Amino acid sequence: MSEYRTSNGPMAYRDHGEGSKDPVVLLHAFPLNSRMWDPQVEVLMGERRIVTPDYPGFGRSPHTPAQPDVRYYAEGVCGLLDRLGLERVVLGGLSMGGYVAFACLRLFPERVSGLVLANTRPDVDSEEMREGRKEMAHRVSQEGVEALIELMMPRLLAEETLRNDPEVVELVKTMILECSPDGVVAALGAMRDRPDSTLLLKEIGVPTLVIGGAEDAISTPDVMGAMAEEIPDARHVTLAGAGHLSNLEDSQRFNDALEEFLADL
Ligand code: MLT
Repeated sequence: MSEYRTSNGPMAYRDHGEGSKDPVVLLHAFPLNSRMWDPQVEVLMGERRIVTPDYPGFGRSPHTPAQPDVRYYAEGVCGLLDRLGLERVVLGGLSMGGYVAFACLRLFPERVSGLVLANTRPDVDSEEMREGRKEMAHRVSQEGVEALIELMMPRLLAEETLRNDPEVVELVKTMILECSPDGVVAALGAMRDRPDSTLLLKEIGVPTLVIGGAEDAISTPDVMGAMAEEIPDARHVTLAGAGHLSNLEDSQRFNDALEEFLADL
């Protein structure tokens, strides 16, 4: 694990592999960290450089400022690309990682040569979701990140995974407990107030992989399919049996789709 200094303090990242093609940068979901990408790092690092940051307040990155917006996280990614001298990258994000990827596209579209949108959505939160985030932030400030185990596990993983894949369940719980309460509260606010990216979809000028799980209740296959239809050069893959963390729940088929997509880039 390495780290670089932003104007808001150090930001940690993992940096593996090498290759002549554009590096891949993968942005994690809420409330996890870069370790969620380990199954992808393992297969890709033989062919490409792959960089996975921890947002401030998550994993190994220290606390985040009181109330950032999603652009703040994208600025951190931009600073990381500068620091590593990466001119152009294939950018991927899962869920909150997708929200940050949209913010990156607004900030530095010329540096993105391919896009992976996993289990994410372009629209804004409904009033009910906004209220839910406020409630979740309140619980985390009162009870700590432990409260997220009860609140998030059933949202993140398909029932089948929760029942039959103790390794993934344990990994996700561990990552949740690695978050800082401040980081979680800040990210909840940033997601709650994120801008609508629906109109951005038509402007995406690079090949895009839209990939999700059939059992994902947050970014349903319908939402993902509609998103893919708006993007000029997108392919859409739905993994049967996987929930919101499709890259962990069915890493084999996620990796197959990712490798096939990357082969053309
Ligand atoms: C995530 O997985 O990043 C979050 O669940 C996304 C969200 O709550 O909108």
